[in-house]
Amino acid sequence: KASRQAEKRGWHLYLVGGAVRDLLLADRQKQVLLEDIDLVVDGFHKSADVGAGVELAKALQTIYAGGRLEVHGQFQTAALLWHKNPDLGSLWIDIATARTEFYPYPAANPEVEASSIRQDLYRRDFTINALAMRLTNPRVGELLDFFGGLLDLQSQQIRVLHANSFIEDPTRIYRAVRFAVRLGFEIEPQTESYIRYAIASGIYEQIQGKNGRAPALETRLKSELKYILQAPYWKPALQLLANLEALRCIHPSLELDENLWWQVRLFDRCLQKFDPQKTLEHWQMRLEVLIAYLAPEFRGKVANNLQLSADSIERLQNLDKAETNITKTLSALELKSEIVQLMRQYNLPTLILIAVKTSRPIRQKIWRYLTEWNYIKTPLNGNDLKALGYKPGKQFKEILDTLLTATLDGKIDNRESAEAFIAE
Ligand code: CTP
Repeated sequence: KASRQAEKRGWHLYLVGGAVRDLLLADRQKQVLLEDIDLVVDGFHKSADVGAGVELAKALQTIYAGGRLEVHGQFQTAALLWHKNPDLGSLWIDIATARTEFYPYPAANPEVEASSIRQDLYRRDFTINALAMRLTNPRVGELLDFFGGLLDLQSQQIRVLHANSFIEDPTRIYRAVRFAVRLGFEIEPQTESYIRYAIASGIYEQIQGKNGRAPALETRLKSELKYILQAPYWKPALQLLANLEALRCIHPSLELDENLWWQVRLFDRCLQKFDPQKTLEHWQMRLEVLIAYLAPEFRGKVANNLQLSADSIERLQNLDKAETNITKTLSALELKSEIVQLMRQYNLPTLILIAVKTSRPIRQKIWRYLTEWNYIKTPLNGNDLKALGYKPGKQFKEILDTLLTATLDGKIDNRESAEAFIAE
């Protein structure tokens, strides 16, 4: 339907980017589910057509009754979002207008058309993402492959289109890693050398806002980190990022040495155990372990720059204080009840962040608190106390607290001893 709308107006429409790549990679026997579709409109010759992408999006919105429409930039790009449309399912469609010069000849002029779609594709990250499939007549279904993307798809290579690609957009380093690990491709050697050059030339300073703040870059880095750290392949991706020294984009001093790698994996096992329902944002927690490995004075700033959630920033800012308090206080505590009281001041994420980086004896105590001591129940609960004639109130709470302390410290272990303890 989008093609018909474009043809009616004398425009060309192309499917571009990830959708073309995924269609070409897909098993021919299986249906491909596209949730994110990028389209480019092109081939017009009147400057009035500059809003073609938006016009087409509006037409589709009318045809498919609904969908949320967002317009970005100077009327150049439109995004349409459907949640569970009966025909379309959940679908994002981005429609961009190819940047084009206006020529005084008909739209069908193939040179004009080819030059603007080519230009649009040339601005993209990798050859495998710079393929286009024509959706309009004539030659509907034709693949436009100006940069050897098809060959790279076949030989499984992640290759940039030009030497400056990573300098122009350092977040592409993370994208290269993401695609390489996700698709099982290799980062082509020349492309790898461009990555290493970009890192060695201090490109990460751009992201960290040293040359004037660059919030857009930080936002993009955050979304690439999220993509990677929530994917099933996050471990090999992290290793590849480290191997390319790309973790410096998070902070110049960040290195995935053996100790950090051990911490990251232990932390992940803790997350699986203590938060199987995934109520915490696991990708963000993984990022927190990396940031927690930095010297305390950098943690809050890095978390802030990456625009992590407020509680995550606060946790990282206060982690050093919490760790020092736990380490110092614990060594002087002998009673289980005192240890529980200390631990209860901190939430689960803070405790596991500290557990993975601290010494073994302290880790063991945190572990026992999280697995056992935190769940110890008193032999008498609130209802039992009511049945014994106690009225809810301040004293009631004190009795419950005292019972818990006595239980934790092994002074009582059944109803009789608990009742005798209260009477005393
Ligand atoms: N793109 C780019 N440089 C970036 C981000 C995106 O050139 N830093 C281009 C690529 O051509 C990419 C397209 O924009 O194919 C769409 O971006 P995105 O949706 O992020 O990537 P996809 O390739 O669709 O990947 P995925 O399947 O993971 O969504």
